[in-house]
Amino acid sequence: MTENQDLYKKAAAEQAVEYVEDGMVLGLGSGTTVYWLLKRLGELVDQGLNIKGIPSSLRTAGWAKEFGIPLTDFSEVETLDLAIDGADEIDPAFQLTKGGGGSLVREKLVNAHAKQVIIIADQSKMVDRLGKFPLPVEVLQFAWQRTADKIEALGAKPVLRERDGEVFVSNNGNYILDCAFESIEDPRALHNQLKLLLGVVETGLFIDMTDKVILAGPDGAQVINK
Ligand code: A5P
Repeated sequence: MTENQDLYKKAAAEQAVEYVEDGMVLGLGSGTTVYWLLKRLGELVDQGLNIKGIPSSLRTAGWAKEFGIPLTDFSEVETLDLAIDGADEIDPAFQLTKGGGGSLVREKLVNAHAKQVIIIADQSKMVDRLGKFPLPVEVLQFAWQRTADKIEALGAKPVLRERDGEVFVSNNGNYILDCAFESIEDPRALHNQLKLLLGVVETGLFIDMTDKVILAGPDGAQVINK
């Protein structure tokens, strides 16, 4: 990541905070862009902002605690007021690829139960068509090889995700297959096909789940409405 990219992520995150109101329950996404959001929210909480957040990963929960953001969970909350999250790719119809950090299942659950979803990103995440970034698919550990075969039959090259030389295990105890499809022509159809495969827990395709995108680049942060 370039230094500029990090500045853009911070700019997008800080712009998103403008949509946060006192008393809101927020969905807290995951990733390095969301880190800047949490940092800024922590400062505002220090100054008296009254919010609660539901974290979409253990890493986000850790950062939120570090920055003093009160947390809650789905045993207390039915609907979140607003979820703010990052993305790996965003297409012009606001369909997303997510899961680069391995938190796609919890992110999808959090975003699905929010009244509004804002995606924050640096401008490199906006693409004409999804697919350059290998699609993360969360699968059960059991028989993952056979699940990978089925995904391969759909035209991908699935690779079992590793981190630091170990197989990566998600917060839900599952594996992630990074599936390079050369280009994803119909994200909705692909998501539906993958979901029908035995062993697939969830895909990183977030279909019709985004209301607003805040993209930042050298000219600052730009809010794009659907
Ligand atoms: C985490 O699983 C992802 O969905 C992230 O939202 C996505 O990878 C974007 O991450 P960065 O903000 O770190 O680029």
